[in-house]
Amino acid sequence: MGLISDEVIETVRLRSDIVEVVSRYVQLKKKGKYFTGLCPFHQDRTPSFTVTPDKQIFHCFGCNTGGNVFKFLMLKENLTFVEAVSLLAEQAGIAVSSNESPAEREREHKWRRLRQINSLAMDYYYYIRQRHDAAARARKYLAERGISGDILERFMVGYALPDWDSLLLYLKKKGYQAQEVAEAGLAVKTENGKYYDRFRQRIILPIWDAIGRVVGFGGRILDHSLPKYINTPETALFSKGNLLYGLHLARGAIREKGFVVIMEGYMDVISAHRYGITNAVASLGTSLTREQGRLLTSYNKNIVVAYDADVAGVAATMRGLDLLQELGCHVRVVNIPDGKDPDEFLQKQGYEPWENLINQAPSLIEYKLQQAVSKKQVRTVSDKLEVMRKVFPSLSVITSEVEVEENLKVMAGLLNSSPETIAGEFKRYKANKRKKWTYPDNIAKNKHNILNNTKKPSAQEKAEAGLLRLIIEDPSLVVTIQEKLGPEPFSNNSYHKIFKHLHEAINKPVYHFAELFNYLEDDEQTLLSYLLTLEIPGEDRNQVMIDYVECISRCNRQERRMMLLQEISKAEKSGSHWHDLWREYSLLRRIVEAERLGDRKRTANLLQEYQQLIKIDICKHPREGSDGS
Ligand code: CTP
Ligand code: MN
Repeated sequence: MGLISDEVIETVRLRSDIVEVVSRYVQLKKKGKYFTGLCPFHQDRTPSFTVTPDKQIFHCFGCNTGGNVFKFLMLKENLTFVEAVSLLAEQAGIAVSSNESPAEREREHKWRRLRQINSLAMDYYYYIRQRHDAAARARKYLAERGISGDILERFMVGYALPDWDSLLLYLKKKGYQAQEVAEAGLAVKTENGKYYDRFRQRIILPIWDAIGRVVGFGGRILDHSLPKYINTPETALFSKGNLLYGLHLARGAIREKGFVVIMEGYMDVISAHRYGITNAVASLGTSLTREQGRLLTSYNKNIVVAYDADVAGVAATMRGLDLLQELGCHVRVVNIPDGKDPDEFLQKQGYEPWENLINQAPSLIEYKLQQAVSKKQVRTVSDKLEVMRKVFPSLSVITSEVEVEENLKVMAGLLNSSPETIAGEFKRYKANKRKKWTYPDNIAKNKHNILNNTKKPSAQEKAEAGLLRLIIEDPSLVVTIQEKLGPEPFSNNSYHKIFKHLHEAINKPVYHFAELFNYLEDDEQTLLSYLLTLEIPGEDRNQVMIDYVECISRCNRQERRMMLLQEISKAEKSGSHWHDLWREYSLLRRIVEAERLGDRKRTANLLQEYQQLIKIDICKHPREGSDGS
């Protein structure tokens, strides 16, 4: 996907009613010219969230988030700008033709074909599972596991024949090359250049992304041989660590129930659906990745973890929990008795015992305490301190004081100490931790810059944002811009971080800015989506870039001028040599003068002179470069 033309974006925006889109997630009440409701982006008690239909924007006065219909979907559904536009375009029946470069068009074409291959393969495997004689054993296997009827359809459960090339042949007939099938992860290339089907003689479970597009597959063997599962490898469309199995089916139920249950495996989620538990997703392996955690939190921060109760499951639970806790989630943990997974438990015990497990699921702290205490007897002071050391890190990231207090009480009970003693230890722990821990401050600062910036941005800030916006579209600009503005063109630290990733992107065979979201921290992600909402002013990208670069250089020069004045007066006072400083200062003054008069030729000449001057002592101005005018 490349850049969608402004015209199309505008058409999509005009045809999508923000009130209708927001109403899918928020209960809105009409109040005169606007609608209000509880904000979906922060814990809102009084309705501080507003939607203004005539402006087609939303804004929350509680958390200061706002934007148009695209921004709303980006935040709510965790989509990139292009994805949000595409989604609404699809719903409005508008074709998203783009005006990107030939290379981008080709890439988009390729992505489209990969999607078609996945989609055709899903239908093919489904059909084979349903109809083919050779799939009789698979049908029996599924029936024995209780997977039948509409569940087969909901999860599009398929079967891959034992042959080496049945899918390849099918797709060839549909006009796809073996190499493309391999790029989609569905075929494997041998050393001597032949291709064969990756999935053979396995139950096929399609995997969808959050908005319901098939991006990959898992294949389960029918007996006890190994490996039990094989999955689509990392492809342009599929990245296991960024996906949650079942999320596209769970979104509505997560909203209704107010929490999400995270499980380990395909079979757990499928079973959950059989028992009417539809707010379940699977992390598809043992340890939850940060990306998956983020994906979850964009839907709901109330999370119940129901991992397998085996040793690997418990270890993975611990890691996943810490991560979710860091992301600000409220986490509870289900203890599945007797080493079972949710699938087995549901089949044996049924829905009600499961619901009891969920209702009784202890909070993370309680769970950790139970784990720590159950390992050995806690008697001595050092035993107690050890337990505290294990639990305090999780406790310290909880922001609600009531919740912290509640947990401290539970701890006190389990450790047989007074709540005051435990609270005192915790206070000491936090004080020690703060000394070494400066990062949260940075986050707060950045957040402030990005989201709560009520003061008007300066010309330089605007130009830097605009310039970065251009580079996001076309990372090859990195080289030119560094030539013109030096190796670190941005004064804002978050911009610099995004810029660094863009710099790395130059060397990649395929670049798509949606990918950037994968590498960035939360705050830079927010910044990136904000930048993507900026419109690029004007048709001539090169001219737009030159204008921004000139603006930034001008601001840098002004900063330099102010600094020189200070240095000159310091030098005068201390009696040291100041003529060089003065020479540079007066040249900069003359440049400003020429610019003010609009004398382009003179400005250009003076700038060239300035270039030569600073080349003589480049170390003095590490951030300066020519501005190419
Ligand atoms: N998994 C995998 N490759 C394997 C084993 C497991 O990708 N060789 C992933 C699968 O996504 C699987 C999850 O890890 O769903 C959990 O593994 P496990 O509990 O062993 O599988 P179940 O889903 O419970 O499958 P079954 O009930 O059929 O054993
Ligand atoms: Mn299982």
